[in-house]
Amino acid sequence: MKHARIRYLESKHSVDKRSRSRRVSDRLFEALPEAPTVGEAGAGTGTTVPWLLERGVTAGSYRGIDLSPTVVAHAQSTQPAILRHRGYDAVDHETGGAVEAFQFEFEVGDALQLLNDQAYDIVIAQQFMDLVSLEPAVDSLTAAVKDGGLVYCPLTFDGVTLFQPDHPADDEVQRAYHEAIDSSADRDVRAGRHLIDEFGGRAGSLLAVDASDAVVHPQNGEYPDDERYFLHCLLEFVEESVSAETVPEVKDWLSTRRDQLADGRLSYVGHRYDFLYRTGVK
Ligand SMILES: C[S@@+](CC[C@H](N)C(=O)[O-])C[C@H]1O[C@@H](n2cnc3c(N)ncnc32)[C@H](O)[C@@H]1O
Repeated sequence: MKHARIRYLESKHSVDKRSRSRRVSDRLFEALPEAPTVGEAGAGTGTTVPWLLERGVTAGSYRGIDLSPTVVAHAQSTQPAILRHRGYDAVDHETGGAVEAFQFEFEVGDALQLLNDQAYDIVIAQQFMDLVSLEPAVDSLTAAVKDGGLVYCPLTFDGVTLFQPDHPADDEVQRAYHEAIDSSADRDVRAGRHLIDEFGGRAGSLLAVDASDAVVHPQNGEYPDDERYFLHCLLEFVEESVSAETVPEVKDWLSTRRDQLADGRLSYVGHRYDFLYRTGVK
């Protein structure tokens, strides 16, 4: 199951934008200092940069780290142009760019190790915490911020992958899909609810938590933006994870879902949590 694919990451952007909790992000921007230093783990194609600018961050610095060299090269080469297209006076730098007094850069590597070399005002890990071992990941993220700094983990997957209309094998397929994810080292399909406990047991404070569903549905047989491709990728993830030995009906389930997707009749719901945590004094 390969998440670090450029078109997949871009295709989920409109879905993520809809499903991010406004309540948690509003709390984040209330708490953020002027000209913040921002680190991001698993930065993907760099969509956090335009989001920070949209939300009024016009000074400070951003460093996004991702394991995938292809995804990082894409973020470095496309984000300044994307910002110019949106009307910002963005300049290119070798590893990113700048808008006014806000500098941004993208880097290849293991974020849980690299972010520790600075003390950030905020570290972001979006759609990331279900991919890594929770306790050491929270240790790294909290160690990467200043005393009283912020850790923001939006869109953390949690245990619901639904497709509609109903199919008789839905429950079996979802169970087998989630079991397959859970069987990979470090992955946790219930990362969202487990983060409540993980942050709750620490010395800092959980400033805000919210749960939301990512919902994709067609209108008049059409999907917005590139969301048909997003659903195509999710069906591929299921296909890679669930064998006919585990669920004999999976072939019929997949071909039914693909027909529904082609006809613009397939909908999807995925459950997620957003967290904003403030570290205590170390
Ligand atoms: C599901 S994608 C989310 C990307 C982006 N945050 C977004 O919301 O579009 C997860 C990303 O985390 C990256 N990743 C996974 N483990 C990582 C690690 N230890 N350090 C840095 N990046 C990592 C993957 O390469 C992938 O691009």
